[in-house]
Amino acid sequence: MEIIIQPTPESATDIAARIIARLLREKPDAVLGLATGSTPLLLYKKLIAMNLDWSRVTTFNLDEYIGLPREHPQSYHSFMWENLFQHVNLTKENIHIPDGNANDIPRFCSEYEAQIKAAGGIDLQVLGIGTDGHIGFNEPTSSLASRTRIKTLTRQTCKDNARFFGSEEAVPKHVITMGIGTIMEARQNLLLAFGTNKAQAVAEAVEGPITSINPASILQMHPVVKVCLDDPAANDLQRADYYRWVYANKPAWQTL
Ligand code: GLP
Repeated sequence: MEIIIQPTPESATDIAARIIARLLREKPDAVLGLATGSTPLLLYKKLIAMNLDWSRVTTFNLDEYIGLPREHPQSYHSFMWENLFQHVNLTKENIHIPDGNANDIPRFCSEYEAQIKAAGGIDLQVLGIGTDGHIGFNEPTSSLASRTRIKTLTRQTCKDNARFFGSEEAVPKHVITMGIGTIMEARQNLLLAFGTNKAQAVAEAVEGPITSINPASILQMHPVVKVCLDDPAANDLQRADYYRWVYANKPAWQTL
């Protein structure tokens, strides 16, 4: 894991945007895994401003609420169109977001997995992290080998996301999410986290034991993970000085 600690979300996001921009320039038909939530908003703004060519890029989103109409302002479909897709030259057919209104959800989930495989697998997966350590919507105790499937949100996640829905009761309790096994098959994972409310989950994920209680901790087993943090999100890391030192001494030739 490469832990990149920056003073602000702005500077941490700059680094994440450069990593994605380089991938799209090197591999114009890259397959990107995308995330929602407040964390990647700035990343999408920066990517839009970079005027990259997305015409051959394929995207797969991590998750979606079940039963929320696609047009609902808080659906992840709406989120992605509003904050990224409508602003770049992606080909509509190359965009994939779980369908929370599919008639047969288990079947949809296995087809989603098949589509990822058929696209050649995900080159880079963008991740946020929940205050409980979830990635995608893989809540604590999710199988570390799980595939795309239905999950029930924790009360904590419903509380965390109530700010988008006006009340906790309005947050859908069920979701479709890529599994942890699915995320682990991405060639590269790029996790962003900002703010003190993420500090504990980040410290457990990076320095704690690998455990389904903190699903993000499985990333310790992934060969290529970059974690972009602002100072507050890095607050509980025991080895923050070491990570800063490693990054400050990163040789120019080391691109991965
Ligand atoms: C959401 C999403 C996750 C996201 C996380 C953190 O509910 N399903 O993909 O990483 O929770 O959200 P935020 O970035 O708003 O803190």
